[in-house]
Amino acid sequence: MFTRVHQYSTNEQVRVPNVIALVGLPARGKTYISYKLCRYLNWIGIKTRAFNVGEYRRQACDFEKEGKADFFDHSNERAVRIRDECAKHAMEDMGRYLDSKKGEVAVFDATNTTRPRRKMLLDFCNREDHETKFRLFFIESVCDDPDIIDSNITEVKVNSPDYKGRMTEEQAKQDFLQRIEKYSAQYAPLCEEKDAELSFIKVINAGRSFFVHNVNGHVQSRVVYFLMNIHLLPRSIYLTRHGESEYNKIGRLGGDSPLSENGVCYAHKLRKYFEKENIQDLRIWCSQKIRVAQTANHLKDLAAHVEYWKVLDEIDAGICEGLTYEDFEARYPKQFSERDKDKYHYRYPSGESYEDLVARLEPVIMELERQSNVLVISHQATIRCILAYFDNKKREELPYLNVPLHTVIKLTPKAYSCQIEMFKFKIDAVDTYRAKPTEELPWELNGTESNLCRSP
Ligand code: ATP
Ligand code: F6P
Repeated sequence: MFTRVHQYSTNEQVRVPNVIALVGLPARGKTYISYKLCRYLNWIGIKTRAFNVGEYRRQACDFEKEGKADFFDHSNERAVRIRDECAKHAMEDMGRYLDSKKGEVAVFDATNTTRPRRKMLLDFCNREDHETKFRLFFIESVCDDPDIIDSNITEVKVNSPDYKGRMTEEQAKQDFLQRIEKYSAQYAPLCEEKDAELSFIKVINAGRSFFVHNVNGHVQSRVVYFLMNIHLLPRSIYLTRHGESEYNKIGRLGGDSPLSENGVCYAHKLRKYFEKENIQDLRIWCSQKIRVAQTANHLKDLAAHVEYWKVLDEIDAGICEGLTYEDFEARYPKQFSERDKDKYHYRYPSGESYEDLVARLEPVIMELERQSNVLVISHQATIRCILAYFDNKKREELPYLNVPLHTVIKLTPKAYSCQIEMFKFKIDAVDTYRAKPTEELPWELNGTESNLCRSP
């Protein structure tokens, strides 16, 4: 007799809908933080969406015709009305998203620099007509480092849809500086005494220090932990699978076989690639499988540190370890088709699912956020999970991401995205990719050509 052990997924720990509201002057990284939080929370299985009030404002009016920076002057009554209306619209959409249970966390991305605006948000979260009241958490980004602000404006803001193609970069920069002044005139930072009842974190000078107050619940504590680990320093993360293994050659899953001849050749070429890249303080993180250690052996002296993490081992295929996909289908046809139906959630008997892998890899993601240049040498399924995090891929797509052998994936984080470059080496390797089978046709494919073309 089998006993079913129920594991609580991250989802089930989250019951109260959460609103996370950003606070801060323009160019303080609020949208950057919103984007990263959405990506992270969705990846760990908490459905999250950002509501950017700037986008509502751009739809509502033409900011250039409304006086550019003057549009943000608190004495401009018409503009204040438009801005309040936009914030209300975004809140209503956010409410619908949470009430409909489509999402568990909504990120309210606006400046929210005044107490009345934050009170409006708090009242909205406590409204009786919501299914459940929303738990509110503020993230305030405080930054007075002129170099950070200058680079945020010149690298990101002058290219925003407000300015791009409408004025020169210098004009855009001057207008944006005026916008910051207009906001500064009204800015009331969060404060421990006056806002004693609120829950918030202040991120000071891009994470040089933090002030955390009144953290309440699972989502808020994960958000705090995440914010304390991210940084803005430029760097790249390199992902690769081990070189082709003996098991790869014969199509077997998992195991702990050594590299094939082609695999050894890849390990040598990989060294040449990293010699050329000449990366300072490179860290190499490997799984604990032989094929990965053999791939890394050739690179060791190019790295500042080499670490072997058990959590980077390949998905555990349980009773299917050592089988080919054909053996798997023949021996366990029901299991095989279950996997095709929902590959992300399917757990191999006595093994793991992709969902399990994501939970196992969370410490790797957190550590990748903390570090500078890292090369991860691991496996098909684990690299898919890491790639899905950086490339913001949906759970349905994750188990089908194409991560070929003998390929380096270079990830370079940018302001609101991540640049992804793939370097495919010219060394033969088998293709271990198994595509998602196409939907079964609703009628049987038997008979002549003419009746094959006919619908039922
Ligand atoms: P706005 O109010 O105009 O929408 P914003 O506060 O949303 O501005 P972003 O568009 O997110 O600002 O600015 C992006 C830039 O902020 C990126 O270049 C990123 O490097 C930088 N950044 C990210 N986090 C922080 C932070 N905590 N403090 C300061 N800058 C940051
Ligand atoms: O075939 C190589 C391999 O790394 C196996 O060890 C692993 O089970 C498989 O890829 C993961 O890919 P998929 O989840 O598509 O079966």
